[in-house]
Amino acid sequence: MQAGPARAGAKPLIEGVADMSAPRKLFIRTYGCQMNVYDSERMAEALGEQGYEQVDSPEGADMILLNTCHIREKAAEKVYSELGRFRGLKEAKPDLKIGVAGCVAQAEGEEIMRRAPLVDLVVGPQSYHRLPAMEARLREGGRAIDTDFPVEDKFTGLPPRPRASRGPTAFLTVQEGCDKFCAFCVVPYTRGAEASRPPERILAEARDLVARGVREITLLGQNVNAYHGAGEGGDWSLARLIRALAGVDGLERIRYTTSHPNDMSDDLIAAHGECDKLMPYLHLPVQSGSDRILKRMNRSHSAESYLRLIERIRAARPDILISGDFIVGFPEESDADFRATLDLVEAVGYGQAYSFCYSPRPGTPAAERAQVDPAVAAERLQRLQALLGQQQKRAQDRMVGQEVGVLFEKPGREAGQMVGKSDHLHAVHVNGGGVGPGVLARVRIVASGANSLAGEVIAAE
Ligand code: SAH
Ligand code: SF4
Ligand code: F3S
Repeated sequence: MQAGPARAGAKPLIEGVADMSAPRKLFIRTYGCQMNVYDSERMAEALGEQGYEQVDSPEGADMILLNTCHIREKAAEKVYSELGRFRGLKEAKPDLKIGVAGCVAQAEGEEIMRRAPLVDLVVGPQSYHRLPAMEARLREGGRAIDTDFPVEDKFTGLPPRPRASRGPTAFLTVQEGCDKFCAFCVVPYTRGAEASRPPERILAEARDLVARGVREITLLGQNVNAYHGAGEGGDWSLARLIRALAGVDGLERIRYTTSHPNDMSDDLIAAHGECDKLMPYLHLPVQSGSDRILKRMNRSHSAESYLRLIERIRAARPDILISGDFIVGFPEESDADFRATLDLVEAVGYGQAYSFCYSPRPGTPAAERAQVDPAVAAERLQRLQALLGQQQKRAQDRMVGQEVGVLFEKPGREAGQMVGKSDHLHAVHVNGGGVGPGVLARVRIVASGANSLAGEVIAAE
């Protein structure tokens, strides 16, 4: 993603630095979830106010920021190998500043600077509004570290989004943090306690995005359906927020992610049946199909209650595509427990899913327990992914012959091809049809490929 060019007349924070007219170059690499993608955009905007312009490659950059993920060991370790690769760049250009943001920054703090002395800045996800001040400290030759959970809202402190135009889809964080403490998960530690942004700020940001060309917004939160922003008349639920957003002219599609089964309220389920702009796709992680394991995971729902919930959601919106997350090889998981996960998958019929081998995370309760043999876990993952892959393909194949809505985003690989996403979040490509990025069209699906659908435009707006 490209931030807009530095604004003309942006006031440099530090006076007396040589050539302030040439924009400084900022390279950001983003790992992890959609919220990191959103945060990276906001950090680029905040540093844009400081005279930085975002670039696509680390070579020649004045500042490199890694926005990191701590969810599994592999994700966290990637950061250090990546930092190692920047050593040459720093030697060639000693005033290059290197920063680590995101969940590894929060979890490891100062330790990062010990392990990787080339790092000048460490900033946790709740402190991004302090980034401009931290950057100023770096320019004075210091290092900066901030992993507080400040009382002020980071989004209030960040500058308003500049009005540069952008693509047709956008993320918008409405809720952050988590109080659920699943026994495997670092998020409550890295993102902090659950907090919701006020609805009027979200509505203002959505209107601004729409004015810049956005037609689809995905509302983000680690526990997005627990949203409870303080607004007019008291706390708003996610359903109320969605209904209000549906009233924003020019906003055509609304999605939200990620939800916890226990927070799937009646009004949110009803919204899926009543609100045309709310897309028929729901990411609802279950993690395991074994009640014994769910209990040990501290998930506070059972396989049965999850299945009943899916039934109620499908009663409200029969064509909804269900997506999920699974962990295999959680401590003490037996063959019978794993069998129960396969049974649950069979019973639900997922249209899409993510699945992972359990990765012990420092400081989480499950990391201390008896671990499953990695070879057993790997074999289970393969079996689960084979089943989920079949289901995903079946859901995709079922679309052939159907007419769907597609929001086109960009040209495809072949000449004259355009690609976009269907209402059910399938990638769809068409040849011709006179549609460009940002066009919403009715499309007849004619073929189902490995990971995408082919269609023909019936009618574009
Ligand atoms: N509720 C969150 C979940 C974040 S983590 C959200 O909003 O996305 C995304 C997924 O990573 C989880 O649903 C879980 O399936 C997986 N995960 C989390 N911790 C893990 C661990 N220690 N090992 C393996 N997978 C993990
Ligand atoms: Fe992690 Fe569980 Fe919270 Fe999701 S609900 S972020 S898996 S602790
Ligand atoms: Fe990773 Fe943090 Fe997101 S750990 S998944 S970047 S909330």
